[in-house]
Formats: sequence, C-alpha cells, structure tokens
Amino acid sequence: MTKPILIIGGRGKTGSRVADRLEARGLPVRLGSRATGFDWTDRGTWAAALEGAASAYITYYPDIAIKGAAETVGALAELAVSLGVKRLVLLSGRGEPEAQRAEQQLIASGAEWTIARASWFNQNFDEGQFLDMVLSGEVALPVDKVREPFVDVDDIADVVVAALTDTRHVGEIYELTGPRLLTFADAVAEINRAAGTTVGFRTMPAHEFLDWLAHSEVPDEIAGLLEELFSVVLDGRNESLADGVERALGRQPKDFADFARHAAAKGAWRQAA
Ligand SMILES: NC(=O)c1ccc[n+]([C@@H]2O[C@H](COP(=O)([O-])OP(=O)(O)OC[C@H]3O[C@@H](n4cnc5c(N)ncnc54)[C@H](OP(=O)(O)O)[C@@H]3O)[C@@H](O)[C@H]2O)c1
Repeated sequence: MTKPILIIGGRGKTGSRVADRLEARGLPVRLGSRATGFDWTDRGTWAAALEGAASAYITYYPDIAIKGAAETVGALAELAVSLGVKRLVLLSGRGEPEAQRAEQQLIASGAEWTIARASWFNQNFDEGQFLDMVLSGEVALPVDKVREPFVDVDDIADVVVAALTDTRHVGEIYELTGPRLLTFADAVAEINRAAGTTVGFRTMPAHEFLDWLAHSEVPDEIAGLLEELFSVVLDGRNESLADGVERALGRQPKDFADFARHAAAKGAWRQAA
C-alpha cells in the first residue's frame, strides 16, 4: 500500500489546496489538523500524525515568523525523520528572520527538503486576515508606499505538490512571488475594479495601529507578530520579484488582477461597500 502524504494545516488556505491536488492525482493524503488530533501546542500528538507517512507538507501555526517557530518546526522535522518520513516541504515566509531560522532547522533535520518561501498571499484579502476590512469598506493598515509582490496560494499549492511528488525539487529554496509589485492601495484598487466595489484604503498611523492592537481581542503573541510584520518585514526588503514559481513549474505566476476577478466571480466581496 502506498504511504500517505501528511498535510499539516490540511484545512488551511494552502494545505486544503495541496490536499485537493494530491487526491485528484489519486495519491493518499492524511490531514494534520486539530480535528484529526494533531496540535502544534502538544508535542505528544505529533508522532501519531507522522507515523507511516511517506512525506509531509508543513505549515506552522500561528505563523512561521513568530518567536519560537524555528525550534518547534525543527523538533517536528527531527521527529519526522526519526519516524522514517523521508521528504519534508516547508511553507516559509520571505524576509522574515524567524522563518529563515526555521528553514535552517528543516535543512539540518537530514530529510529530503524543499522550502516554499512565500511573499504575502493574495488570499489574505478574500480568505484571510484582511477580508473583514474589505467587507467593512475600508482597509486601514500601517503601510504607505511599500510594494509587495503578492503571490497566489494556487501557485504555492502547485509548487508544493511538485515538491512532494518529484525528486527534482529536493534541496531547492523557491522564493515565491507574484509577477507584479503592488502597494496595498493598488491591491484594494484591483479588488474594486474586479468586484465593482468602492472599498477605501487608508494608511493608519503607527500609533493608531498600536493603540488598536492594545485594545483589540488579538492575543498578545499575535499582536506582537502583526507589529513586527508591518514595521520590520514591510520595510521595503521584499520589494523585488523572484522566479520561484517559474523555476519550479516552468510557467509565470498568477497576477493579482486574475485572482481578484476569480474571487469576485465567486462572490467573495459581495457584501462589501
Ligand atoms: N498569509 C500570508 O501572507 C503568509 C505569507 C507567507 C507565509 N505564511 C505562512 O503560512 C502559514 C499558514 O499557512 P496557511 O495560510 O496555508 O494556513 P491557514 O489558512 O492560516 O490555516 C492554518 C491552519 O492551522 C490550523 N491550526 C490552528 N491552530 C492549530 C494548532 N494549535 N495546532 C495545529 N493546527 C492548528 C487550523 O486548522 P484546524 O482548525 O483544522 O486545526 C488552520 O486550518 C503560516 O506559518 C504563515 O506564517 C503566510
């Protein structure tokens, strides 16, 4: 019997797409999720998920950029190798010091490894943390003119599936970006163009953002993470395009405008202003 491929975060934005693609190819998949007993915060649950798997796709929760992620991912990778899981594919983040430390831990595990080092996702706007703001009619964030090469999670999923199924990708770090640099205001404008909405964008002053975080119900560790993402990771260090999608798949990445058209057609922003 063919051993299953473990997808940690198998119900998440990238994991669910990876699972769908593998299943469509007739490959056996095992979902790593709290629903199936896997919990990042309880190491006692890890072995049951890993045991008997051929390979694993690792998405770390809550965020690969958060302090301590590297040690935790390293511990999981080491356990995986000791249990005979041969290949590990890690979803990482671009220009994030803790994520790059996690990559080193993965590499040190002795597994056949591939790293999908992604920029910010298009799907943050229709499935992730920016959706509520879009629906409220205003995206207000502490960013101004910095441009981000938003990447589509469908492209990430295609790269991850390739890495899980083809030895050609072993030992590769794929920097995954979209084909265009956009400011957050540009991204909102693309959404308006596609969905016929009039969502605004406002640069929120840093003090207002910190004040909002302090008074929000966002847990402290996530608040700290958001502060770091917006003040450190969005300092312009990621204002460049990378060729990871083309190198891995031999095709161009999907443009934000195409993502916005598809999401609008699905009704993602129907309730927006
Ligand atoms: N968003 C971006 O722009 C971006 C960019 C680069 C990298 N990343 C990285 O992408 C990763 C997230 O991947 P994603 O967006 O595909 O996933 P996601 O949509 O954020 O889903 C994460 C999954 O984690 C699971 N989860 C929650 N608490 C958990 C726990 N205690 N133990 C185990 N699982 C838990 C949830 O599944 P269940 O409810 O089924 O347990 C959820 O489906 C993060 O590490 C992030 O740093 C994100």
